[in-house]
Amino acid sequence: MSITIYVPRDAGALSLGAEDVARAIADEARKRGADIRLVRNGSRGLYWLEPLVEVATASGRIAYGPVQAADVPGLFTAAFLEGGAHASRLGETEEIPYLKKQERLTFARVGIIDPVSLDEYIVHGGYRGLQRALTVSPAAIVQEVTDSGLRGRGGAAFPTGIKWKTVLDQTVSQKYVTCNADEGDSGTFSDRMVMEGDPFVLIEGMTIAAVAVGATRGFIYLRVEYPHARRTLEQAIAGAYAKGYLGSNVLGSGKAFDLELRIGAGAYICGEETSMLESLEGKRGEVRVRPPLPAVEGLFGMPTIVNNVISLASVPIILDKGAAFYRDYGMGKSRGTLPIQLAGNIKRGGLIEKAFGVTLKELLYDYGGGSASGRPIRTVQVGGPLGAYIPASQFETPIDYEAFTGIGALLGHGGIVVFDDTVDMAQMARYALEFCALESCGKCTPCRIGSTRGVEVIDRILAGVDRDQNLALIEELCDTMVNGSLCGLGGLTPYPVQSALKYFREDFVRNRRV
Ligand SMILES: Cc1cc2nc3c(=O)[nH]c(=O)nc-3n(C[C@H](O)[C@H](O)[C@H](O)COP(=O)(O)O)c2cc1C
Ligand code: SF4
Repeated sequence: MSITIYVPRDAGALSLGAEDVARAIADEARKRGADIRLVRNGSRGLYWLEPLVEVATASGRIAYGPVQAADVPGLFTAAFLEGGAHASRLGETEEIPYLKKQERLTFARVGIIDPVSLDEYIVHGGYRGLQRALTVSPAAIVQEVTDSGLRGRGGAAFPTGIKWKTVLDQTVSQKYVTCNADEGDSGTFSDRMVMEGDPFVLIEGMTIAAVAVGATRGFIYLRVEYPHARRTLEQAIAGAYAKGYLGSNVLGSGKAFDLELRIGAGAYICGEETSMLESLEGKRGEVRVRPPLPAVEGLFGMPTIVNNVISLASVPIILDKGAAFYRDYGMGKSRGTLPIQLAGNIKRGGLIEKAFGVTLKELLYDYGGGSASGRPIRTVQVGGPLGAYIPASQFETPIDYEAFTGIGALLGHGGIVVFDDTVDMAQMARYALEFCALESCGKCTPCRIGSTRGVEVIDRILAGVDRDQNLALIEELCDTMVNGSLCGLGGLTPYPVQSALKYFREDFVRNRRV
C-alpha cells in the first residue's frame, strides 16, 4: 500500500523551498522503489518549520521540518516513511503545542486536506453547511449568521448577519455577493492561507451568502500578488461547477449562483469596500461617498454583500454546527474565533486561530516564543499599517474588539507585527504618513494633502526645527485627518502616528537629524 506524504503548496512554504523538497521526495522514492502518494496540502501555519513535511503513519501524521531538498536522502535512510527518528522529526503534527492549543474552526481543514480535491473537502465535513442552508428559508440563514455573533474579519468588525439582512430586504432583480480578497494589511496572510489551503470553504461560504440574500452572481476580488491563490481558486471553482455546487441549479435546488475570480491591479485602497466595487466595475479604485451603503447600492448600483475571505469562510461551520456552537467561543461582543497572524521580529511566526479572549502576551510569548532577535519586544502593531503601536505595558490586553477600542487600538484583520527595542518609532510614524501619501486615492483633502504635509512636519521635528511647534502641529494634523477624512485610510493613519507620539515620545525628541 502506498504511503501518503504531504508537502505544502502554500506560497509561504514554496518561498522556503517546498517545491524542491517535493521533487526530491518523488525522485528519491522512485530511486528506492518506494510506493508513495504525494499530496500538496496547504500550510499548517507553523511558518518557522516550513517546509514542513508530513508522513501518514499508523500512529497519525508525523511531521518533519524544516526540510530542505538536500535532507531528503537522509530522511529516507532514517525510515521517515515509517515515522523514523531524524534530527528534523517533530513528532505527531497534531501534538505540536503551537497547533494543539489552537481552536481551529475556520481553519479546520487547512493543511490537512488536498485543497483542490472536492472529494476530500466533503469527506472532511465540507458542504454540510450549504446542504442545511438549502433546507431552510433565506431569513433563517441570515438569522443563524446574526445569532452566531460573527463580525466582519476584514477590519471594521460590522455584524455580518445585519449586513446580509439589509441585502435580503432589497427587492430588486439582481444582487451580488463579493469577496474582498485584497488582503493588503502588513503582516497578514490568513486570507491567502484559506484560499490556498481550503478554497472550497470560501466558495461554500459565498454560495450560502448568495442563497441567503437571493444573489445569483458572485465575484472574488483577489490581489494580483497572490498567483498561487489564484491557481488554487481557479481549480476549485472549476471543480465546484463540474459537480453542480456552482452554476444554474446549485445541488438541484433550482437556485443559481455563478462565481468569478477578478484580479486587482495592486493598490491598498482597493481593499476599501467601495473602492473595490469601483475596481470590480473596471474603474479606477476610488472611494465612494456613503450612503448609499453597498448593501443597498453596491456593484453596478445593485444590492451587494461585501465580505472578507475569513468572514465568508466562517459561515459554513456556523450553518453546519449552528449559531450556538460558534457563539460559545469568544468573549463579550467578540464571538467565535479569530485567525491571528504573527509576523515581524518573532521567533515562531505563523497562524494561530484562537477564540477571542487570548491575550497579546500569550500570543507573543507562549506561541511566538519572543522576538527572533532575542531582544525585548518593545511594541507591536496590530491591524495593519493603520493600526496603533501598542507598548509592552498593554500586552495583557485580550484579543477583543471592544478591549482594543478601549486602548485606542484596532484589531483589524488580526495581523500582529512585532518590533524589538531597536525600532525607531519616529521613523515608524513617518512611514505611516508616507504610506498614506503613496496609497491615498486622492478624493479628499485631509488624506491627500495631510499625509504629505505630515511627513514634512515629522522631518522638521526630527531635524530639531521648531520642535515644540511642530509637535503641536502634527497632533493637530492628526486630529484633522481623523475627523475630516472620507474613509479609513486617511481616518486611521493617525493611529500609528499618535500612538508612537504617546508611548514613544523620546524617539521624536532626541537630538538628531533625519
Ligand atoms: C484603506 C482600507 C483598506 C482595506 N483593506 C481591506 C482588505 O484588504 N480586505 C478586507 O477584507 N477588508 C479591507 N478593508 C475593509 C473593507 O472596507 C470592508 O470593511 C470589508 O471588506 C467588509 O467585509 P467584512 O465585513 O467581512 O469585514 C479595508 C478598509 C480600508 C479603509
Ligand atoms: S481618506 Fe484618502 S483614501 Fe480615503 S477617500 Fe480620502 S483621499 Fe481617498
